[in-house]
Amino acid sequence: MKNIILTGDRPTGRLHLGHYVGSLKRRVELQNSGLYDEINILIADDQALTDNADNPDKIRDNIINVVLDYLSVGIDPEKTTICVQSALPALHALTFYYLNLVTTARLSRNPTVKAEIQMRGFADEGLPAGFFTYPVSQAADITAFDANVVPVGEDQLPMLEQAREIVEKFNKIYGETLVLPKAMIPENETQRRLPGVDGKAKMSKSLGNCIYLSDDAKTVKKQINGKMFTDPQHLQISDPGHTEGNVVFTYLDAFCTNAHFAEFLPDYANLEEMKEHYRRGGLGDGTCKKFLISILEETLSPIRAERARWESDIDAVYDILRAGTSKAVETTNATLARVRKAMRINYFEDRSIIRQWENLLKQTNV
Ligand code: TRP
Repeated sequence: MKNIILTGDRPTGRLHLGHYVGSLKRRVELQNSGLYDEINILIADDQALTDNADNPDKIRDNIINVVLDYLSVGIDPEKTTICVQSALPALHALTFYYLNLVTTARLSRNPTVKAEIQMRGFADEGLPAGFFTYPVSQAADITAFDANVVPVGEDQLPMLEQAREIVEKFNKIYGETLVLPKAMIPENETQRRLPGVDGKAKMSKSLGNCIYLSDDAKTVKKQINGKMFTDPQHLQISDPGHTEGNVVFTYLDAFCTNAHFAEFLPDYANLEEMKEHYRRGGLGDGTCKKFLISILEETLSPIRAERARWESDIDAVYDILRAGTSKAVETTNATLARVRKAMRINYFEDRSIIRQWENLLKQTNV
């Protein structure tokens, strides 16, 4: 069996540090590992429309932002296929068939969708059927690429479970056709859920607590110096401080390596020594923040430079997206053909259907 990756993002905004540590960085590692036969990234614009039907312009604008973010972190279009969901009609057809294999009761139990319904106010306003069923469309995304590995955040586990159930049901009814996918979750706890600079649950545009990959050095510095929480009880440098729940240390957990100490803060060999000092007292928040800013700058400045390079050649970016999407059209059409064949509804691919119809008519005529 081939090793095929599919992963995806809704293009609803520029990507930030949370995306970077939680998924982008690993995608680049997976891409460069040589362990996979195919790697696909889907820009899920149709899925984004399920809760943005009144604002397609936002989705359209962010397609280019998301592609630029991919390219600037090192996604290489020679190795990874980047494609746009709405241009893959096979996904729509697959979704339509899979919807028959799922009950509304089962869809209502999806914890991620439940939480999203609350967050978006759909509980009061009424729930768009498209949004309610997006896990089925996501199962279509995954199976259309024959993906066996799906790198996602923890919140996507219910989608994978739903996809696996659909695959099992499909294969049981129509015969072995679809590949059973598996989720791949990041191991590092802090990388899995990097909080916003204010320490709130997640980075989110509406909370203004993000550091975007495309932010300039001044903005990054401002977010950290102006908004990042430390330990509210650590008032004087000499006071003992807490590192748990201290956002600066949470970010250091996610980003810092021993090499960063040698480079920027040689007083300590590693993060444990630095934390020790902070807890004991005598290490100021300013020093910690300055260290974090240096590390983030080292991470972000090459990304920023790459972005600027691609931004100056949008034609090339467009061509990458178009080529990736054309390739994905082929892949997903092939799966749809296989699915229709398994369901025996491939009427126009198989002319022998005429003979079957003839026989049927003969039988009914005797
Ligand atoms: N639902 C995913 C998210 O919000 C995005 C997505 C769409 C996806 N289709 C996918 C992820 C297929 C993995 C595979 O992050």
